[in-house]
Formats: sequence, structure tokens, C-alpha cells
Amino acid sequence: ETVDHQTIHDLLVEIARKAGDMVAGAQPHVNTSGYKKNSADLVTETDRAVEKYVIGKLKEVYPDYDFLGEETYVPGKKLTDRPTFICDPIDGTTNFIHAFPNVCISLALCVYRTPVVGVIYNPYTTHMYTAIKNQGSFLTMPVRTDSPNTPAPIAPRKIRLPRKSYPEPLTGLQNALVAVEWGSDRTGPNFQIKHRTFTRLVGAVEDGGKMVHSLRSMGSAALNLCHVASGQLDMYWECGAWAWNVAAGWLIVSEAGGIMVDGNPGGWTPAVDCRRYLAVRAAPDGQKELVEEFWGCVEGEM
Ligand code: IPD
Repeated sequence: ETVDHQTIHDLLVEIARKAGDMVAGAQPHVNTSGYKKNSADLVTETDRAVEKYVIGKLKEVYPDYDFLGEETYVPGKKLTDRPTFICDPIDGTTNFIHAFPNVCISLALCVYRTPVVGVIYNPYTTHMYTAIKNQGSFLTMPVRTDSPNTPAPIAPRKIRLPRKSYPEPLTGLQNALVAVEWGSDRTGPNFQIKHRTFTRLVGAVEDGGKMVHSLRSMGSAALNLCHVASGQLDMYWECGAWAWNVAAGWLIVSEAGGIMVDGNPGGWTPAVDCRRYLAVRAAPDGQKELVEEFWGCVEGEM
């Protein structure tokens, strides 16, 4: 069976925009949200409604494809070789609840466990990131087309990633802007490894740290990957994310010349559902050195 990537891409873009309207039109509230495993693992009615909408639309057209989504996931369910749609209805639920506008819908198609179409849409900024395997990554966003004497029409413009002025050469961890996430696991050995690693990254060189330019923790794995793809972030590291957080962004990073490796030292070819990721933006050279330098800061195995 051949899969028409362009048709699926166009459908996912359309679904993402509609889902985006649902998200942007909702009024969540900290007190009306629920939580899953603990009080930092949040879910809202909108997460569930968006996923239901996405499943309905996809099943109409592709009834035979598998589906993996955050809100309908049953523990133990595995990603298979079959064509599978992967959906995070709201990536950045915590942001959504707090009205912090770093939120997106993330949709991907994986075949043989490899993302071949990826679509990520932030309904607040209306930035739409898309990629099809072997065809590059794109950002469609509104651009002001006004001159000083005219009103301000805003026209969508589609640009190829990474943006032209990026990337500058990667000159080492010390000059990097790095995204990390705390995730919702707040106890146990992994939590210890995380904050030791964060400290190593930001700490002064004379204390054994790398003193990166800074860390960013913006609350959406998918958007972190989009920013790595665009060259606005140099790297992104997270242990504990899920396939639905990263599948679309994975392709968007890769098609923009970036790489995805394992968040644990040594894993050059991670699986989409391995849950530990390190993304590095496009660079003429130096990606591998940077990965190794980063792995040197990861204090333990997660
Ligand atoms: C979460 C966000 C967050 C990351 C977590 C994810 P959600 O996704 O991407 O940045 O740290 O690991 O679970 O729950 O908002 O879809």
C-alpha cells in the first residue's frame, strides 16, 4: 500500500487549524482542570474534545490506519510498523491552563515507526510548522505587509527552515541556548539526574559546569523541536516525553538539517517512542561534538 504523504499532510494541516480554533476558543481554568498521575500532570476537557475531533476526522478518511493519542493511550500499547497517526491534542496543557501562549496541536503519521508527515500548529501565534519526509520543513506564519502609509494587512508566508540567517556555526555548548523540560515526574532517581544535569549545564566552568548561554523551559516539547528546526534554539533535551510529544517535531527537526539522538549518553539512533531525546539544530559541522559534550553533562542513565 502506498501512502500519499502530500494528501495526508494537507488533511493534517486542515485538522490542526480546526483543532486550533477549539483550543483558542476555550477558556480553561486552573481550578476546573483535572490531573492524571499527579498535580503536575494536567488534562482539560479541551484536550479530550480535540483528540475526539481528530480521531473522528482521521477515521473518516483512513479507517484502516492505527492511531496513538495522548488522551486515548492505554498503558502498554506499542507503536507498530503499520501506518499510525500520532496525536497530541494539546502539547503544553499546563501553558494552556495558565493562558501562557506556548501551546500547540501536534499531528504526525508514522510508517515503520518513522515519522513521514508532521504538522505542529500554535493557535495563539498561528504559526504552522510542517514537514514531509525528504521534502524539507516549513513554517507558515503571518507577516506584516504594511508600509508606513498603509494599514496593516497580515499575509501568511511560507518559509523553509532553518531560516536563512540561521544557523550560525555551532561553536560549543558554552555558546548554546538549550531547552530542557522538568516534565511531570517530580520524584525518584530520574528527577535527581535531571536537576544535576541542569546544574552542570548552567554552572560556572571553574565549578565543572558548561555555563551555556541559558536554559529555556517553555512547556511544549513539540514547539521546542520547532524552535530547534528554525535555529532559534540550539538544542533541546528531555527525558520522560512521549511519542505524541515528539513524532511530528522529530521530522520537522530532521528535515531542517537537525538531528535527534538519545537523551542518554551513547544512543545515536533512538526510537520515536524511546522517551529520551536530545535534538540539535542544523549546523554545517559540529553537531556530533556538541552531542558528545552534552552527553558528558548527563549525570546518570534515565
Ligand atoms: C508535555 C509538554 C512538556 C513536557 C512533558 C509533556 P502535554 O506535554 O510537552 O513540555 O515536559 O514531558 O508531557 O502533557 O502538555 O501534552
